Amino acid sequence: MTNRTVPRWSTFAPLLQRRTGSSRLQRRLDGAADIADLSRLAYRRAPKAVFDYVDGAASGEVTKARNAEAFGRVEFHPRVLRDVETVDTETTILGLPSSMPFAFGPTGFTRMMHTEGEAAVARVAARNGIPYALSTVGTTTIEDVAHASGDGRRWFQLYVVKDRERSREMLQRARRHGFDVLMLTVDVPVSGARLRDARSGISIPPSLTWRTFLNGAMHPAWLFDFLTTPPPNFETMGTGDGLPMTTVQLGTTSAAAFDSSVGYEDVAWFREVWQGKVVVKGVQRVDDAIRCADLGVEGIVVSNHGGRQLDRAVATLDLLPDVVAAVGGRTEVLVDGGVRSGADVVAAMALGARGVLVGRAYLYGLMAGGEAGVQRAFDLLAQDVRRSMQLLGVNTVAELSPSVNPGLVGLRP
Ligand SMILES: Cc1cc2nc3c(=O)[nH]c(=O)nc-3n(C[C@H](O)[C@H](O)[C@H](O)COP(=O)(O)O)c2cc1C
Repeated sequence: MTNRTVPRWSTFAPLLQRRTGSSRLQRRLDGAADIADLSRLAYRRAPKAVFDYVDGAASGEVTKARNAEAFGRVEFHPRVLRDVETVDTETTILGLPSSMPFAFGPTGFTRMMHTEGEAAVARVAARNGIPYALSTVGTTTIEDVAHASGDGRRWFQLYVVKDRERSREMLQRARRHGFDVLMLTVDVPVSGARLRDARSGISIPPSLTWRTFLNGAMHPAWLFDFLTTPPPNFETMGTGDGLPMTTVQLGTTSAAAFDSSVGYEDVAWFREVWQGKVVVKGVQRVDDAIRCADLGVEGIVVSNHGGRQLDRAVATLDLLPDVVAAVGGRTEVLVDGGVRSGADVVAAMALGARGVLVGRAYLYGLMAGGEAGVQRAFDLLAQDVRRSMQLLGVNTVAELSPSVNPGLVGLRP
């Protein structure tokens, strides 16, 4: 027999009190339990064309789905009865420390997603001790990102433009401003077929048509920022001095100024100009990984650009073990594509990666809530890295390596 009493207001009123001390936005961000929740928030806050620019991929988006599906095939084989009270997530990527085995990868046009843009991403990365790669087609100057990043680690991602002197000038500026790695992206000889962008007609800088305006009106916070702050433009490259890229339709010609004739022989030129660590991003075959290692680059990123370039390319996670077996002893092998959780990061590390790049995951956070949203994305990933390591029975990132602990993770065919 259960004893019941008449409910009294004084008992349950405190339970109903509104949480105070944080904004509505912050409460929404805190309520996001994973990156998928952040992406749903992002969908509500950003205009559809902007969300689609981030979320979309090339052609039939087969590779984007494959990247995710490969993580779904991961099988963990946890070790039990290991003392995992303390875990250390710090590691070394490209010769310097990172508090986590992941970094924020390069993404273009970031101020279009949220006006705080690259500076917000750089601040979050620096505050939390992970590297951030600024894109050539960024919407913030090299100087401003350096300032926002402060003592943080910053890498510079280069798309080779037809005007070599412009590349040289950008690299020299980045070097002077403390960027410690050059990331040469090589999977964009031409732009992938981004059908969502072609259909929406999105451009950079965004053009204010009636359609954009009406869609923006349904996302007032984004529209208010757009109307009251400088429009996003190619600030990283330096604008306003005769650049061939003025207004670019993202779905069609975003690679118009890029040099599609770049070959292996050019890598030496970039090494010479950069005079520092060089990483080749966009490697998708074992033989190309071997050629890069033969050239003596410090690292490669096994990447299919998150499925945004050649659709039907192989899922990067499937390729990773073979690449690590071929060149892992000679150059650092990083990987990206489809990472949406800390468990994904841990799986990639256990398959031999030296570090993992995160792309859309932090952009969903940025669209959902600016800098606070990027911080939420970092927290969700970081907590899950820590928890996954503990559940797997390892205390350090080094123990995740297949050379130390073979068989922690498998990939079902
Ligand atoms: C909106 C967006 C813009 C991107 N811009 C660049 C870029 O300017 N340079 C680059 O090397 N990669 C760029 N990438 C690719 C990312 O660096 C990374 O390879 C990819 O996002 C990884 O896949 P994920 O988004 O599934 O994590 C971009 C990706 C997205 C989603």
